Amino acid sequence: MSEVLLQVNDLKKHFPLRGGVLRPRGRRVYAVDGVSFQIDRAETLALVGESGCGKSTVGRAILRLFEITAGQVVLDGRRIDDMPAGALRPLRRRMQVVFQDPLSSLNPRMRVRDLLAEPIRNFALAKSGAEIDARIDLLLEKVRLPREAKARWPHEFSGGQRQRIAIARALAPEPDLIVCDEAVSALDVSVKAQIVNLLHDLQREFGLALLFISHDLAIVEHMTHRVAVMYLGKIVELGRKRQIFGACKHPYTEALLSAVPVPEPGAARKRIILKGDVPSPINPPKGCRFHTRCPYAFDRCRVEEPELRPLDERPVTCTICRRCRIPWPLPVDTELRDSVREFCTPSPAWPVQPPRRAWRRFFLRGPAIPRPRSDR
Ligand SMILES: Nc1ncnc2c1ncn2[C@@H]1O[C@H](COP(=O)(O)OP(=O)(O)OP(=O)(O)O)[C@@H](O)[C@H]1O
Ligand code: SF4
Ligand SMILES: [Mg+2]
Repeated sequence: MSEVLLQVNDLKKHFPLRGGVLRPRGRRVYAVDGVSFQIDRAETLALVGESGCGKSTVGRAILRLFEITAGQVVLDGRRIDDMPAGALRPLRRRMQVVFQDPLSSLNPRMRVRDLLAEPIRNFALAKSGAEIDARIDLLLEKVRLPREAKARWPHEFSGGQRQRIAIARALAPEPDLIVCDEAVSALDVSVKAQIVNLLHDLQREFGLALLFISHDLAIVEHMTHRVAVMYLGKIVELGRKRQIFGACKHPYTEALLSAVPVPEPGAARKRIILKGDVPSPINPPKGCRFHTRCPYAFDRCRVEEPELRPLDERPVTCTICRRCRIPWPLPVDTELRDSVREFCTPSPAWPVQPPRRAWRRFFLRGPAIPRPRSDR
């Protein structure tokens, strides 16, 4: 059996916008614009980034809650993005979701027993009522709730207990992958820790793969194996936890991590405050999408869109960081050395001085003085 459970290739989801009297037709929200990653069995991949960068859209696209615009979603070697609904049904059992707000994701008119029995019946996982009851008891035990809980309604529980019911419901069809979309964000600190530990234990016990969508980097650092950092519909850096938290390469990751509190009295990280808001996904900036806020942005970033390419065994998009942070003299590793050479050679798409600005400068201040190469 292959280790890779889920493979996402160049996933795109563009939401069409309605036109109006003053609004042109044909506009789109580029919510997810070319995202690729994979999740192995029993692995946790965290998806982090600012609000609106497309994290939930990736999660919903994987679960096929809507049709995607382009790309591929492959579950256990089978492509599911273009699969007809009938063929997809048995595979839906293998992918479940836990949302942020359990009160709105659990039907308030169903008792806990019925909430947990529904997926067991739908996927024909038990033959008799007694078997269903036995499964429900086991699920409640696994999420550390008393058996008596099955006779109660969702509104009779605290937020943390409700999230345990939502987790039990996700576990009921015996899935391979659970998408946790901000599953612990609405809980207070102590309950959050309990639910995170519960997810950790269940993952080890059942060999579950988790796509853990969150903006809480302290929790992510605690529970994930790998981290994908998203910005405006794209992944900008992806790597193992120690690579991202210990030696990130992308300026956006650097800024995100600078906001994580250090659990040591008196110690503090140097905060990097990004100026401005995230640009609109309706009209994302040309070149590097982060250039409008990046403290290191230079001419080339405004023109050329960097690709996600491997650096130090992990994919990173930022080209300048690739150049600045590689130890000098260049490493012996030939592949890395070649990629640095390739970067250092200016591409034809990179005008050193855009013509309009060069002419303006000439008329206003005289001829432009070329900047040293290290400044660009
Ligand atoms: N059905 C939709 N129609 C149009 N635009 C949408 C739709 N769903 C999401 N979007 C847009 O797609 C972008 C990404 O949304 P998404 O919910 O994936 O962000 P997110 O990263 O999960 O944010 P948050 O952290 O706040 O949950 C947003 O700009 C959002 O407005
Ligand atoms: S490519 Fe340029 S703008 Fe983008 S992150 Fe790197 S330095 Fe910043
Ligand atoms: Mg979201």
